[in-house]
Amino acid sequence: MTLSDPDNILAGAFADLESGRLDKSLSTNESSQLSKAPVRNVYSIRRATLADSTMLESIEREAFPGMTPVTRIERDLKRQNGLYLAAVRDWHPDERELGPRFAISTQDEKDDVSFTARVKRNVDRYFLDYVNRPKLPYDYIAGFVGLWFVLDEAHIVIIGLRKADRRKGIGELLLISALEQAVENDSRVVTLEVRESNKGAIDLYRKYGFQEVGLRRRYYSDNGENAVIMTTSPIQSDDYQNQFKKLIKLHNEKWGRSSRLDKPEPEAKDAPENNGATVDGN
Ligand SMILES: CC(C)(COP(=O)(O)OP(=O)(O)OC[C@H]1O[C@@H](n2cnc3c(N)ncnc32)[C@H](O)[C@@H]1OP(=O)(O)O)[C@@H](O)C(=O)NCCC(=O)NCCS
Repeated sequence: MTLSDPDNILAGAFADLESGRLDKSLSTNESSQLSKAPVRNVYSIRRATLADSTMLESIEREAFPGMTPVTRIERDLKRQNGLYLAAVRDWHPDERELGPRFAISTQDEKDDVSFTARVKRNVDRYFLDYVNRPKLPYDYIAGFVGLWFVLDEAHIVIIGLRKADRRKGIGELLLISALEQAVENDSRVVTLEVRESNKGAIDLYRKYGFQEVGLRRRYYSDNGENAVIMTTSPIQSDDYQNQFKKLIKLHNEKWGRSSRLDKPEPEAKDAPENNGATVDGN
């Protein structure tokens, strides 16, 4: 317990970091991989705009099948107290070959080989894309996070990725950026709700110091599942910031440094020669 953490909340949070589990998991196989980790992450984070809304809605359908809309993206993009961040990279040359409607569609829509799906794709490609061509974002969006700033809290209303882009550190990169924006916005804590069964997401949030503080019973209308309410300890505190910086450093070492909101990640001393086997010494 420290002065900035009088209730000792951080003791349970960042548990992996404290227990050295992250150190250990990085000590053998991963540390040798880390020395070969890319110096630059191909994904960067930028602010999402209204021009991205069709793409974001398609990602939302892919990330939350059967329960969209999770939130009203267009409305949120216009909110004064809202901020949406997108994880982006350059388009690969072949990704736009089959037309913008195909490029925007979900993985399930792309994989659907039924007769009707094939007819629809041809109508899209040879007719609709000509008469009313959807405007694609200038870059490929792998996923996004939406935030609302309410009083002294930042609330994560949505975070989701395309299926093909999961488990590549992009969700974590979005969460890092959301937390950084919450700090810049002088928010005190960050909160969110997550399905009880969504262990992957809960692990990600715990890694960043979120703790379960309550339950909303039968919150999700599709299957009546409970939502777990999770919140950070005060994000401006020295304790939180120290742990946060260590996690960012580990993420950089594993996935490469990324630019976030046009601020290039500084050419840090911690770059490639450090294989990430330790979280000490920023
Ligand atoms: C949840 C989600 C955003 C995570 O993004 P991601 O890019 O796949 O996750 P990352 O690769 O950045 O993983 C970061 C950490 O999250 C945890 N994690 C993420 N997915 C996990 C999974 N499927 N199983 C276990 N842990 C997982 C791990 O702790 C991981 O750290 P590690 O790589 O050191 O093990 C993504 O899977 C997604 O979009 N899911 C569908 C939508 C959704 O459930 N959103 C959350 C709603 S609250």
